[in-house]
Amino acid sequence: MFRKDRSQLTQPKSFAPLFEAAEEAKATSLNSLFAENPDRFEDFCLELGQLKFDFSKTHITKPVLASFEKLAASAELVDKRNQLLMGGIVNPTEHRPALHTAVRATNPIAEDSEGNPIASEVLAQRDACYSFAESVRSGETKALTGNKYRHIIHLGIGGSALGPQLLLDALAFGMDTGFKTHCVANVDGHALKPAMDACNPAETLVIIASKTFTTTETLRNARTLIQWMSDSGVSNPLKQMAAVTAAPDHAQAFGISNTSILTFPEGLGGRYSIWSSVSLVAMIVLGKQAFESMRAGAESMDNHFATAPVQQNIPLIAAMLDVWYGNAWAAPTRALFAYDSRLSVLVQYLQQLEMENNGKNISTDGTEINWQSSPILWGGVGTDAQHAVFQLVHQGTHLIPVEFIAVLKAGHDLDDHHKCLLANCFAQSAALMKGRTTAEAASMLAGDSISGQGKDLLARAKTFSGNRPSTTIVLDQLNPESLGSLLAFYEHRSFVSGTLWQINVFDQMGVELGKELAKSYQEIIESGDFGSLDVDSSTQNLLGLVLD
Ligand code: F6P
Repeated sequence: MFRKDRSQLTQPKSFAPLFEAAEEAKATSLNSLFAENPDRFEDFCLELGQLKFDFSKTHITKPVLASFEKLAASAELVDKRNQLLMGGIVNPTEHRPALHTAVRATNPIAEDSEGNPIASEVLAQRDACYSFAESVRSGETKALTGNKYRHIIHLGIGGSALGPQLLLDALAFGMDTGFKTHCVANVDGHALKPAMDACNPAETLVIIASKTFTTTETLRNARTLIQWMSDSGVSNPLKQMAAVTAAPDHAQAFGISNTSILTFPEGLGGRYSIWSSVSLVAMIVLGKQAFESMRAGAESMDNHFATAPVQQNIPLIAAMLDVWYGNAWAAPTRALFAYDSRLSVLVQYLQQLEMENNGKNISTDGTEINWQSSPILWGGVGTDAQHAVFQLVHQGTHLIPVEFIAVLKAGHDLDDHHKCLLANCFAQSAALMKGRTTAEAASMLAGDSISGQGKDLLARAKTFSGNRPSTTIVLDQLNPESLGSLLAFYEHRSFVSGTLWQINVFDQMGVELGKELAKSYQEIIESGDFGSLDVDSSTQNLLGLVLD
């Protein structure tokens, strides 16, 4: 249920220490925290491998960290974390474990808490995927013409698209891989057509990625590509297709040959499937070693999450800050700006992760929660976003915790550009914190020729409240390992916050109703007959526009 009146919200009892810490923190400012303790960066910037997490420009203090420790204890976080990592049933509505850490582990758990084998399955699936990828990469697996594939069209949507797209954008920048790749998610012909126009069907491998292998958009796109290949003379289009799925029987029924079906476990959610054969296209293009490094990066974050004490546990602190700002400071959104164009799809990727995980109003025991769960995650790429949405970020009326991501070493040799980019990134977080008083603005305007009321008005408009919190994540460079660590960080963070909000992080029932209605509306549009369907007058008229 959504509540117009935020004052109706209550909080879980376990949040009491967070609220107390917030009362104190609200009475101070980030500027004064830095004035009192110039070593805040040393105290609150944590490091893991190639990543630094600078929490010092949030309102975090030692007492705040102590409140996080209390919250972790009363929410039994250690126990819940262990259940996740050991294959416990952490997704009660679907009675499943969540296997993303197992799927990327060098030594996966042998079995889940129900005794189902995990390690043997996961390792076999990983090997099968590597060898399929390598055979396409080397040219051993060929198109029907006998030539090496030159084009790959990856079909999939949501988690079956965003991961591969992110990997290709982030890691294949500037590489001449010998393959032209296209990731098509939308059923919109405007998305599919450009890929069809850019590829030669006779040299194209089509990868159909769908966990369920029932997703309308993906299957419709796949059927259109079968027709496209067939129309251009490919004798057996299905032979130029591979399937990536947790439902191999459906892929078989679709006509994909067994040797071209790569699987992953049912217990791996779509939004976590980047660690599995869903990334086949990236494995082909980047090679096995890149994927192994990405796994290693993620595993180092997994180990850190599993073992670091609360006050040094990076995903845990980030999650608690999310809960703190969301619930005790009433921030309805969080913004993320990556200062690296190779990460332009990261916001979308994390939107799916966080909003499918935690955009819920029912608790794990089936009761309605009465507190805010996932903040709305939004954002973009710096510096572009500075010239579009930063007006509101700096002077709007909402409290928006902001996250910046910067990469120290660029993937190009245009050094001046990179220095300019980083200067902009660090300037934004400083500006959000520092602000500018009206007196400072007025003295800036002192020499200007505007007079009287105009100058006062201008000084007020040029006033920045400051005290706006941000976290900066700095990567030494963007490579498979650092990306792996970064993504695992977000996964654990989201698990912890969802656990604190007492919701099931791992199902996504909220996507179902719209899918069901879309199916019946499509039938109406195709048949021209409303039949006995009970539709409201708005929807009836909208559908009528298509039928006319
Ligand atoms: O509609 C949401 C969703 O179920 C996501 O969770 C998932 O990543 C996406 O659709 C695609 O599903 P599939 O991989 O089964 O095609």
